[in-house]
Amino acid sequence: MFALNMLPSIPIGCLSRSALDDSHTLVENQADSAWKGNTMPIVTEYLIREGLTRLGLSAGSTALVHSSLSNFGHVEGGADAVIDALLGVIGPAGTILVPTLTGNENLSPENPPVFDPVNTPCWTGRIPETFRKRPDAIRSVHPTHSVAAIGADAMELTRDHILSITPCDEFSPYGKLARREDGYILLIGVDHDVNTTMHHVEEIAGVDYHMQRGFAESTLIINGTKIIRHYMLHRYGAARNFSVMGPIFVERGIQWSTRIGDADVHLIQAKPMVEITCQCLRANPRILYRE
Ligand SMILES: CC(C)(COP(=O)(O)OP(=O)(O)OC[C@H]1O[C@@H](n2cnc3c(N)ncnc32)[C@H](O)[C@@H]1OP(=O)(O)O)[C@@H](O)C(=O)NCCC(=O)NCCS
Repeated sequence: MFALNMLPSIPIGCLSRSALDDSHTLVENQADSAWKGNTMPIVTEYLIREGLTRLGLSAGSTALVHSSLSNFGHVEGGADAVIDALLGVIGPAGTILVPTLTGNENLSPENPPVFDPVNTPCWTGRIPETFRKRPDAIRSVHPTHSVAAIGADAMELTRDHILSITPCDEFSPYGKLARREDGYILLIGVDHDVNTTMHHVEEIAGVDYHMQRGFAESTLIINGTKIIRHYMLHRYGAARNFSVMGPIFVERGIQWSTRIGDADVHLIQAKPMVEITCQCLRANPRILYRE
């Protein structure tokens, strides 16, 4: 894991009260001539903070965030504004995690992964890629399913991922978050189909479609030094239907939703999410699998 430096100051932008009151609707920004006449919402860091707070995130919260930047509309300040909003809401006592996945369908025991936590880009979007490069981000060391974290428990949540023989086991940030009473999954402009913690449930339940057979002799590049470790690989290409769980989580009272700009945003309690999904998977081992 890599602590690249110490905490930066977190600038908090401001909007007028009237704009705040309209946070669910189109906010026209006449000063932004590039967007004049555009029906796309203009979303600010302040509006994102307000929406996240409305959803239930607060000082001290710990959340793993999956995201789409473009689904907001136009975010002033781009990915950095979203990250500043997240960190601003949870404060120094909280922790934000983002998936910084690097695996792909070409990987196999015959074609094992090479991973450098500093230099290997993730494919999970502009927000995670921007987040992981922040000086205070700690990225877990795992050849395919790494996570970057900033905040009070960033080190604790990320430090053992190198030990995870399967990508989302109990040592992984996904497993650790799911054992906490206060852990959340936050879906910004995306739904459960990208909820990586569902793979943690699949690993607990031991479903037959999740992993490739055998071990991949993977290369980890730590401070320029190559380390070889053996990992089991995700079986890419097995389509999932994780979003089938959303209505169940709402019904069970562990998922709340709001809208920020054009983005539907969902907050889910991680521990009961895993417990409920485990129960469903045991009753129907194919419930998360798209035939
Ligand atoms: C794939 C995915 C990231 C695509 O979402 P997206 O919104 O199109 O892409 P990003 O979040 O990377 O945001 C970049 C895009 O936002 C848009 N954008 C750029 N600046 C912007 C701004 N200031 N405001 C709003 N949108 C902006 C652009 O369209 C940009 O695309 P480009 O780089 O091709 O120009 C998203 O659908 C997704 O799946 N996210 C979750 C990923 C994940 O966690 N996966 C785990 C799987 S187990």
